[in-house]
Amino acid sequence: MLEIRKMNLEDFDQIKKSLETDFDNFWSPSVLEMSLKYEDSFYLVAILDNEIVGFAGYRVILDTADIENIVVKKSFRNKNIGTKLFEALIESIENSKIKIINLEVNQENTVAIKLYKNFGFKEQGIRKNYYKNHTNALLMQKNL
Ligand SMILES: CC(C)(COP(=O)(O)OP(=O)(O)OC[C@H]1O[C@@H](n2cnc3c(N)ncnc32)[C@H](O)[C@@H]1OP(=O)(O)O)[C@@H](O)C(=O)NCCC(=O)NCCS
Repeated sequence: MLEIRKMNLEDFDQIKKSLETDFDNFWSPSVLEMSLKYEDSFYLVAILDNEIVGFAGYRVILDTADIENIVVKKSFRNKNIGTKLFEALIESIENSKIKIINLEVNQENTVAIKLYKNFGFKEQGIRKNYYKNHTNALLMQKNL
């Protein structure tokens, strides 16, 4: 059964060596490690049979939450884990005083965009040439 709980630094230690090969499309391991230490960040981890299969987190800025990351282990994608993880993350935000959730996603990342739209995120604008490979970022927002 899929377990979803708060992510801690021991979880990070467990996956740090495999982050770049088994997960992808997130910042560097050191940035993730730093995020886990910030008091205004909140991360969840998804665990299946003792294996970490995904994580997701946001950072609070005043009354908004910025989604920083949602990543499912490559071999576990398209099995609803991202949906469950995101659902739990949004629930934790809804239980706080936060009013707006922001995120940015590569305009070519159709799966992530589908996931966000499923949770009621709306397109807010585009940042051209935002990523290293000159692809655009799509800015999305959900009001609570
Ligand atoms: C984005 C990501 C977290 C989604 O996690 P996931 O567990 O694979 O997603 P789910 O299985 O919950 O599927 C979410 C939706 O996308 C659809 N989907 C998933 N994989 C798909 C695929 N390969 N092709 C088409 N649709 C797909 C699902 O059908 C579902 O939509 P539905 O509920 O309307 O049917 C995952 O693909 C990932 O880790 N990607 C790399 C990291 C990344 O890009 N993160 C986003 C950064 S902003």
